[in-house]
Amino acid sequence: MKTILITGCSSGYGLETARHFHALGWNVVATMRRPSAAPLTASDRLHTLALDVTNPDSIALALERAGPIDVLVNNAGIGLFGALEHSPMQKIRDIFETNTLGTIAMTQAAIPQMRARGSGVIVNITSTTTLAPFPLAAAYTGSKTAIQGFTRSLAHELAPLGIAVKLVEPGYGPTTAFAQNTEIRLEDVLPEPYWSYAQPILAGMAEPALFTTEADVAKAVWQAVHDESGRSHFPAGADALALVA
Ligand SMILES: NC(=O)c1ccc[n+]([C@@H]2O[C@H](COP(=O)([O-])OP(=O)(O)OC[C@H]3O[C@@H](n4cnc5c(N)ncnc54)[C@H](OP(=O)(O)O)[C@@H]3O)[C@@H](O)[C@H]2O)c1
Repeated sequence: MKTILITGCSSGYGLETARHFHALGWNVVATMRRPSAAPLTASDRLHTLALDVTNPDSIALALERAGPIDVLVNNAGIGLFGALEHSPMQKIRDIFETNTLGTIAMTQAAIPQMRARGSGVIVNITSTTTLAPFPLAAAYTGSKTAIQGFTRSLAHELAPLGIAVKLVEPGYGPTTAFAQNTEIRLEDVLPEPYWSYAQPILAGMAEPALFTTEADVAKAVWQAVHDESGRSHFPAGADALALVA
């Protein structure tokens, strides 16, 4: 039985991906910062572990406790919607620590065991903001675009070792906890003249014609993990698929 370790499973795309792989027979290590609040029922094939991707000790301990893993999904992420001019620099650093350096650190820590076995898959969850410019998300887009380039380069050096590195690019998911998982108030990062500029964008986000669901991402991760064609990009969600089409 294969084992998948997923970061950021307390809600949203990570939680649904954990449920999806568990339902389809995988051994799942669902990691999150506070496992005591896990919305998952542990079973002999589903284990929850504490993991903060910004903390090297936490990464080492989680990988030690997880044992051998066949697949790593770097899903943990935080966002920020607002004007760069008013975005707190500490928040921008936090975004890069989690989305960019957290993904890189997790990947680096998982490689040795995969290299030793000569197999493994690493899936990095980025965003459609990396495929087409999305306004008022410059820092977030930068953090995810770095992972697009990181993944494309790393895939070359790990392929000869039997390790595949792939991208899942979700579209806008209004039903996850993503927008709530920030202590930043919109009015603080969107004072005039940005507030007037942001109004139609916010209105569009409130009623998106196409969007991404948790199930869309879980299925795209499943597809990425099982694909053997050499494909490296897996857009997830109706809006993402429309964008690449
Ligand atoms: N929703 C969207 O519109 C959208 C669109 C494109 C891409 N994405 C990407 O999809 C991924 C999942 O987002 P989501 O929409 O499912 O949002 P979500 O519901 O907020 O889930 C994000 C997860 O990341 C975890 N996390 C945050 N910081 C962490 C850290 N330092 N260490 C470990 N875990 C941490 C959160 O856990 P805690 O409970 O510990 O906070 C949460 O479980 C993210 O990478 C996001 O950038 C989202």
